[in-house]
Amino acid sequence: MRISRIHFITILVLNMSIAQKQQHNDNDVHSFANTAEVSILHLNIDITCNFDTKILSGSAILNLNHKKKTNKLVLDTRDLIIEKVTLDEKETATTFTLGEEVKFLGKPLTIAITPKTKFVKIYYSTSPNASALQWLDPSQTSGKIKPFLFTQSEAILARTWVPCMDGPGVRMTYSATIHTPKDLMAVMSAAGNIVEKNNDGLYKFEMKQPIPSYLLALAVGDLQFRPLGNRSGVYAEPTMIEKSAYEFVDIEKMITAAEEIYGAYRWERYDLLVLPPSFPFGGMENPRLTFATPTILAGDRSLVALVAHELAHSWSGNLVTNATWNDFWLNEGFTVYFEHRIMERMYGRNYSEMLSVLTLKDLNKEIQTIGAASDDTKLKLNLVNRDPDDAMTDIAYNKGYFFLRLMEETFGREQWDIFLKKYFNENAFTTMTTEVFLDKLNTHFKIKENASLSNTLNISAWVYGAGLPDNCPKPQSDEFEKVAAQVTAFLEGIQASTLNTQGWTTHHWLYFLSNLPDSLRLEKLIELDYAFNFTRSGNSEILSEWFQRCIKMNYETAFGPMRNYLMNIGRRKLIKPLYIELAKTPAGKTWAQEVYAKARPGYHSVTYNTIDGILK
Ligand code: BES
Ligand code: ZN
Repeated sequence: MRISRIHFITILVLNMSIAQKQQHNDNDVHSFANTAEVSILHLNIDITCNFDTKILSGSAILNLNHKKKTNKLVLDTRDLIIEKVTLDEKETATTFTLGEEVKFLGKPLTIAITPKTKFVKIYYSTSPNASALQWLDPSQTSGKIKPFLFTQSEAILARTWVPCMDGPGVRMTYSATIHTPKDLMAVMSAAGNIVEKNNDGLYKFEMKQPIPSYLLALAVGDLQFRPLGNRSGVYAEPTMIEKSAYEFVDIEKMITAAEEIYGAYRWERYDLLVLPPSFPFGGMENPRLTFATPTILAGDRSLVALVAHELAHSWSGNLVTNATWNDFWLNEGFTVYFEHRIMERMYGRNYSEMLSVLTLKDLNKEIQTIGAASDDTKLKLNLVNRDPDDAMTDIAYNKGYFFLRLMEETFGREQWDIFLKKYFNENAFTTMTTEVFLDKLNTHFKIKENASLSNTLNISAWVYGAGLPDNCPKPQSDEFEKVAAQVTAFLEGIQASTLNTQGWTTHHWLYFLSNLPDSLRLEKLIELDYAFNFTRSGNSEILSEWFQRCIKMNYETAFGPMRNYLMNIGRRKLIKPLYIELAKTPAGKTWAQEVYAKARPGYHSVTYNTIDGILK
């Protein structure tokens, strides 16, 4: 049979769209779930943590909400072993198939149901290399005696430890029964976290507010609790609890400050969990229980903006959730904006403007790295056939921040706050697309009716255009101007030890270091180290910035401490720039590969997937 070219293309396109349909949910390219037909109202997991085999095993009961008549339920799974699936209270066995593996998405689990099926129960276990899970040996904890387990579900890793509809557009309540070794304690992103380890290794949790799967979270370890206020406290390993309680002492005030800006905190409690140093992120906004890296424990409370950030997600993200990962800026841009507002209210405008200047600096650097013409510099992303993790850059955070700040500066803070408060309230516990948000913004402020306003704001350039529009707000910090003056003085020959650095905080130093030119001579770098002892700093952010200069200048004294740093810390944002800098020279790359060979087994998958790409 002869097929004409036109026909051939038609068939090809048709086939492709069928393949797409089978592979993806219509709205969310990162989920296989058939959400148009059925969705999940409640999840009930009962799982046992086996630290010897590094396997979670047990069952997940899914409570269905039928939208259309269907005989199948499609769920997301990745690296899960499915043993058996049953229906309803009688536990009637049913058939299921695991589809073909798709890179980073895993396999669709298709289960035969009837239009009347109320519950589906899946007996399953995880694999030892499940991407969401990190099983730590005692040597990787700060106590060094007991093992530790934690999960990281965002963006699409929940499916590696729970079979579910793993897209941010599906919300469910959940309950959990967790069986742990008797000497360990379990905590989750739910109600039920207790203040002292029990002795039976049995922990029960209940999350009554509906949440998307990426906020499912569990940690198991040798944990202690310290209350910080009547609705807040901190969990950490015993050796870290004192330091943690000191660092987060302001948390109750922070919750109140946030409530004063955008309305009541809707999750009852706000606790923090300080993880071992391999935690791949600074923080993760797991509801009721923020997960945090120990690298923010600077000892002087100077890095608590991170707590403001994760707390802010209790509104932006956890209450009003990005509908898909293409709308990621709705989570992160709003959160950075709210974070800065909380910081301003807590510590004053001088402080928050320092943060904003650093935010702009990072944004410009990121745009330079990605390329100002790249689609990845748009707020609205297109992640089809891509791992969301690859495109989750500073753009969503920092370009998103400046876009919202532009709205504030245009409409005035009072009017802008009225809008945002209403936005959080009216859309609480729902999902939001970029388009629906823009529609609300346009309607509320009557933007489209005003041609000159539309023109000056240029919203489409911000959201759908690449690069940074030239109406980007300009943060201004007198503090940083003083720092810049000291940088100039130093470059003009003033001795490091006589620079005027009195009263400088972490952010002054970060600005100072990031403004040193690449052409700085090694002697000058050594002079700085003698004067300020950067190489021995206990501040992980300062160290990351400092080590970048040391690599550039090949300052050998720093390489020993830097090796320790890379061996101990798994927070991607801190170590990624070091590996990038090292990889720029053959000698640096060889050194990095040698360190990495030893460090990699201690990193979480999120981190080693990125570093693998840099050192390949
Ligand atoms: N939700 C993010 C972490 C995240 C993003 C995990 C994308 C997985 C995929 C969290 O709120 C975050 O933004 N953390 C930042 C903190 C910072 C901006 C203050 C981090 O980890 O560096
Ligand atoms: Zn965030």
